[in-house]
Amino acid sequence: MQHDKVLILDFGSQYTQLIARRVRELNIYSEIHPFNKIPSNLESYKAVILSGSPMSVRSDEAFHIDLEEIRGKKPLLGVCYGAQYLAHFHGGEVGASSTREYGRAHLSHIKDGEEFFKGISAGSQVWMSHSDTIKKLPTGGVLLASTHDVENAAYKIEGETTFAIQFHPEVYHSTDGKQLLENFLIHIAGVEPDWTPDSFVEETVERLQEMLGNDRVVLGLSGGVDSSVAAMLLHKAIGENLYCIFVNNGLLRKNEFSQVLQQYEGMGLNVKGVDASARFMDALKGQADPELKRKAIGKVFIDVFDDEAHQVKDVVWLAQGTIYPDVIESVSATGGPSATIKSHHNVGGLPDYMKLKIVEPLRSLFKDEVRRVGKSMGMSAELLGRHPFPGPGLAIRILGDITPEKVAILQEVDAIFVNNLKKWDLYDQVWQAGAMLLPVNSVGVMGDERTYEKCVALRAVESTDGMTADWVNLPYEFLQATSNEIINKVKGVNRVVYDISSKPPATIEWE
Ligand code: XMP
Repeated sequence: MQHDKVLILDFGSQYTQLIARRVRELNIYSEIHPFNKIPSNLESYKAVILSGSPMSVRSDEAFHIDLEEIRGKKPLLGVCYGAQYLAHFHGGEVGASSTREYGRAHLSHIKDGEEFFKGISAGSQVWMSHSDTIKKLPTGGVLLASTHDVENAAYKIEGETTFAIQFHPEVYHSTDGKQLLENFLIHIAGVEPDWTPDSFVEETVERLQEMLGNDRVVLGLSGGVDSSVAAMLLHKAIGENLYCIFVNNGLLRKNEFSQVLQQYEGMGLNVKGVDASARFMDALKGQADPELKRKAIGKVFIDVFDDEAHQVKDVVWLAQGTIYPDVIESVSATGGPSATIKSHHNVGGLPDYMKLKIVEPLRSLFKDEVRRVGKSMGMSAELLGRHPFPGPGLAIRILGDITPEKVAILQEVDAIFVNNLKKWDLYDQVWQAGAMLLPVNSVGVMGDERTYEKCVALRAVESTDGMTADWVNLPYEFLQATSNEIINKVKGVNRVVYDISSKPPATIEWE
């Protein structure tokens, strides 16, 4: 079944991905493309949205877009830069604004009887983020809404289905933003909201069956959400022809290998658990540099996976859990379109010499959608709600060189921390949590004895994509109980600290 699609043309705004997500929350499929790479199959998009941008339309380097095939021919919505662009180059005027226009504002006036603002009243909070302002509407422009500081906060073009807004409906702080997108896309542009997780599963399974036929596919499971959901989709499509490989690198959480393996088997997956801990530990001996540790782990992983994959006879495909943020080509904020660079590799990233064709069933989904798809296939909330965990595992949480003893200490500490987060109902409020084993010994006293033992740092962050993060304000009582339990139960640790750094400038992992 063909779904109506929405095209989002990106001018490099930090919020462009949010537009796509908001649109998809309306059960409408949307795609992001750079403004200067408009897809040739324009007829397959029912409406177009122009994003914001760090660029000014008044700059000599302003981004220019060819709207010939879009404007007046398809419903079009300009957001921020998009709105300014439609004004400035079409008979209107944009100038520097004299008042501060960043953050919350409220619509003070809305034109009566406009479908675009249906269900939204004056007083509605909107999110502004711009330093230019529209001083004069373009030819045919009709004012639709103002705020106290911004007269031309929304307008339409007479005789077209072209709308423009200065504020950002995609940001949650615009309280009626979703309603506004619904008004534009569903009620004005007539887009059918029929893209749901169930329909995604059904169609993806059909597509995979067509594409893969009777071919065999290997997939590296990591225990994480993406590879698990990818595996379930493929399992639904090709059953026993999917060969999953789950490698224990000896750097997983406490008991994770056996627990996750059991869970996978319970889901009916054809999965082989490979305990290669010793090979990883060997390769890591004496390595203290974070990047060298990553490289060593990556290399052993590829060797182990390669060995295992070759044992599957006649395998043709390699499946990966790549998701949409990894594939979107976005416009960089410093000007000039550029591809986003993925700095970390999960279980994927296998060498070309494997000569396998690649299948990536989640390529079009955001992380929250991957979870919704998993849920619609009946996967457990526990698996779908798991925090992200880095491919190199505890190796990048043990600062300096790695020994089996250090891994064992950190596994105990981490298990207490994470179990307590669950016990205190805090786990789901945290995006990622873990413990770091620091390369320092400090003096302590236990009973009558002096100790000289390890220090661990606990880290819990809030984030949406790991690109930026803030530390979580965990209750003191929780920290107190967890610190006590760690020091009392984990031999070799006499001090616990809590990391209160945000990213940037710190990172989530310590290495
Ligand atoms: P940082 O430390 O860069 O982490 O703020 C951001 C997110 O990426 C994860 N991370 C990794 N994941 N291989 C991975 O698969 C890696 O080498 C790696 N390093 C960091 C980290 O856990 C966080 O979710």
